Amino acid sequence: MKTIIEPFRIKSVEPLRMTTREERRAYLAAAHYNLFALDSETVLIDLLTDSGTSAMSARQWAAIMVGDESYAGSPSFRRFEAAVRNLMPFRHIIPTHQGRAAEAILFHLIGGPGRKIPSNTHFDTTRGNIEATGAEAIDLPAPEGLDTAAPHPFKGNIDLGLLEAFLEKNAASVPCVMITVTNNAGGGQPASLENIRAAATLAHLYGKPFIVDGCRFAENAWFIKKREVGQGGRAIVDIARDMFADADGVTMSAKKDAFANIGGWLALNDDALAERARARLIQTEGFPTYGGLAGRDLEAIAQGLAEIVDEDYLAYRARTNEYIGERLIALGVPIVQPTGGHAVFVDARAWLEHIPPLEYPGQALACALYETGGVRACEIGSVMFGRRPDGSEHPAPMDLVRLAMPRRVYTQSHADYVVETFAEIAAIKDQLMGYRIVWEPPALRHFTARFELLPGLMA
Ligand code: F0G
Repeated sequence: MKTIIEPFRIKSVEPLRMTTREERRAYLAAAHYNLFALDSETVLIDLLTDSGTSAMSARQWAAIMVGDESYAGSPSFRRFEAAVRNLMPFRHIIPTHQGRAAEAILFHLIGGPGRKIPSNTHFDTTRGNIEATGAEAIDLPAPEGLDTAAPHPFKGNIDLGLLEAFLEKNAASVPCVMITVTNNAGGGQPASLENIRAAATLAHLYGKPFIVDGCRFAENAWFIKKREVGQGGRAIVDIARDMFADADGVTMSAKKDAFANIGGWLALNDDALAERARARLIQTEGFPTYGGLAGRDLEAIAQGLAEIVDEDYLAYRARTNEYIGERLIALGVPIVQPTGGHAVFVDARAWLEHIPPLEYPGQALACALYETGGVRACEIGSVMFGRRPDGSEHPAPMDLVRLAMPRRVYTQSHADYVVETFAEIAAIKDQLMGYRIVWEPPALRHFTARFELLPGLMA
């Protein structure tokens, strides 16, 4: 059969609440045009994030019932640890309440003023946690990753030439080299196994540990299987293990590729570093056999990890984005190509070229999607990345809007509805106006900034 279907049936449903355009316009104004400030019950299709929004399986819910809530030595931790190690074979698996907690612990130990941490592209919380210690987060994406229209198979690669030059110049101040798979901020694009291995080799050449941000490791492994020479016949589990084989550690959010609603971990090989990480964990998260989680969460993650490497699921997962992407391209909407693992990224700067980057074309599109169709998406551009630690503001390399797909949640008619919302916006897109920020916090401003619509037809 040609049609790739949702490889599941639905046992339990949640109602969606319909709203009118007038209602949404008022909700948007009350939220100061920040979509994070909306009440989620006023959102029809929520594509804000794929994080923690997965539909859990019947087996995960069943696993939750056998979660053991012992403070120390819980068998749920042993099952969690074994499930993680099956895919990510590290000596120490340290559970945290989500990915950023793993980042906070790691950078508390190895960050600090004067340190520099290179990556293909740091996600915003990773950058935030690095900068919070006084260290510098450096993005070294391969050049094709910045060309949204180029159909390169591995646009999440790190630029090996730049990495080598960077290490040559800064070795003394680099505590580790990182890679994010898939590269979320760069469009959900994968890094190839070859690139991951070469980056690890370079890091080791300079005596630096190599850390993988593995949040979407299964999606990355799927793209390696589909696109990398010689990988097509291999099992996802084996590809995943290879992605981590040369690494010294992982930061992970179980809210992505573990189908869990909460959770994460820090995995390390270095015994001394792991010892210090556990000491910090006890201060900030909890005892090492539960970290920041309940025993039931550890069980949900263990079962989720068994399900995430299923090839029927991954084929459907990649196809969902590809389907939306194909239809947006047909409407003339520029997107990051090829479509990524967890999301479709729309190039708002290219589509709304009349709105300058520092009037936030991504924000303008995200607000229009909500007002027009009740679709909530996320700006990944100059709002998210425009404010530098020194207080200056600069356009981000790209102004994207991310339509992130919660895992196993929406169906094809939901996807069609999203495309229809774009079709309506396409007819009036030249009338959309930009925004200015009237209030922002000192860091991670996109979560809480308040906006004002610049004067124009939509006001
Ligand atoms: N690394 C990457 C690549 C991420 O995408 C995220 C979260 C994190 C780390 C932090 O994990 O949320 O469990 O603390 N990304 C979410 C998103 C928030 O919407 O992309 P967390």
